[in-house]
Amino acid sequence: PQDVGIIAMEVYFPAQFVDQAELEDFDGVSKGKYTIGLGQTRMGFCSDCEDINSLCLTALTQLMEKTGIDYTSIGRLEVGTETLVDKSKSVKSFLMTAFAASGNSDVEGVDSTNACYGGTAALFNAVNWVESSAWDGRYAVVVAGDIAVYASGAARPTSGAGAIAMLVGPNAPLVLDRGVRSSHMNHSYDFYKPVMSSEYPIVDGKLSIRCYFAALDSCYKTYLSKARKHLDEEVKSLADFKAVLFHTPYCKLVQKSFARLAYNDFRCLSPEAAAALHPSLTAFRDLPLEDTYFNRDIEQAFMASSEEAFLTQTKPSLLLATEVGNMYTPSLYGALASFLAGYSADPDSLVGSRLCLFSYGSGLASTMYSIVIKSGLAQQRLGADVRLPSSNGQAGWSLSQLVSSLSDLQQRLASRQKVPPQIYSDIMKLRESTHHLAPYKPVGCTSSLLPGTWYLTYIDDLHRRQYERV
Ligand code: ACO
Repeated sequence: PQDVGIIAMEVYFPAQFVDQAELEDFDGVSKGKYTIGLGQTRMGFCSDCEDINSLCLTALTQLMEKTGIDYTSIGRLEVGTETLVDKSKSVKSFLMTAFAASGNSDVEGVDSTNACYGGTAALFNAVNWVESSAWDGRYAVVVAGDIAVYASGAARPTSGAGAIAMLVGPNAPLVLDRGVRSSHMNHSYDFYKPVMSSEYPIVDGKLSIRCYFAALDSCYKTYLSKARKHLDEEVKSLADFKAVLFHTPYCKLVQKSFARLAYNDFRCLSPEAAAALHPSLTAFRDLPLEDTYFNRDIEQAFMASSEEAFLTQTKPSLLLATEVGNMYTPSLYGALASFLAGYSADPDSLVGSRLCLFSYGSGLASTMYSIVIKSGLAQQRLGADVRLPSSNGQAGWSLSQLVSSLSDLQQRLASRQKVPPQIYSDIMKLRESTHHLAPYKPVGCTSSLLPGTWYLTYIDDLHRRQYERV
């Protein structure tokens, strides 16, 4: 099959948020630390009536409803998450409840876990399956979801929550480039969750930033060298991408990361070209990369010189990240959805564009890859043996349908309910004290949940979870 990639997307985020400026006051930190220092505006969070199963189920069912694809047309379902409510039973196995009525239980795939990387691992599994000899002609669905929470303190304003479901198949509008995926995998204790009874990670913030930058440098270098060999068009610097999308722990880190890629480009220039472009920066050109992660001179110089490019190539993709926070596994795909939503007036202007995506999960696993945008029309070109999207009679999923289905993101974000920091803090305490409690009946308010949202109603004494839908 040709042009394998993402055909449709559905984004779910919590219906309530805390304002980061109000959180600064509440936490007693200096004004601007979260909003300017981290670049965060609002932070979505879940009460005790939402868990990873309900989040993923909401994203999955809404994707299926909006595309009109029949559950029997799905041959693989992959989940990426680091929010574990069970050390054995996968979230995927729970999501099979959505398939029950269709009678389709022939659905490959389970969960992928490694911090924020699981969504990308799940996407690659799905794409690999469609491109493989095991493919049976049906679609794959990928669901990335997490409830990202930190203990109170410096990391808490970088929390978030959400789930994104993606339909994967051939003749897609968002086609993954072949032969260029470039990974950097390593052992590090920058962020990990060894305490099974707690939702919170152990995090070494500074080390996690160093690891993120090291992974970014390594992946970019390998990506460019593979691109030279495997892509028809020349891709040799940031300027060759329509957009550069990042896993986003917080928006400021992404601006620094964009600047870091610009610094990497600068290092690849000849001495003469480097001197002509940035005469005052040539001294930085040959420093060992690992000595430069926290070099303020380099950071400030390249943040300034790359700012204009950042504003056009990356800033538009930070809508969900600044409004909802770090969703963990869906974060990069939130960047993709935010970017696409910005083109709802003219989606076809994207045809032929190439996007660069960087996925990072602490511990650590990271990959840079690229997507080429095509007009799509997945249904029209599928073979006769493929069970097609059926129930809503649409003419398949084209780029413009994908983009227009995301055009209400801003309005959905604006319709959320603002919750005072004290209530947010009380809800975090409640989640903390009831985490893994059984039997347990959630007390969180469900009245703010939007129609179509699944929520947790009860956990019985054998830890079996029950759900209902608004
Ligand atoms: N106005 C403007 N800026 C301010 C203010 C202020 N009043 N106060 C502080 N700042 C700036 C700081 O100068 C700093 O800027 P810099 O990054 O350019 O140095 C920034 O705000 C953050 O302030 P710090 O004092 O460095 O923040 P702190 O150390 O308390 O926490 C951290 C930041 C480490 C990112 C923390 O939130 C954390 O641990 N988060 C989780 C880990 C994480 O997200 N890591 C990223 C990769 S791994 C992953 O994805 C989970």
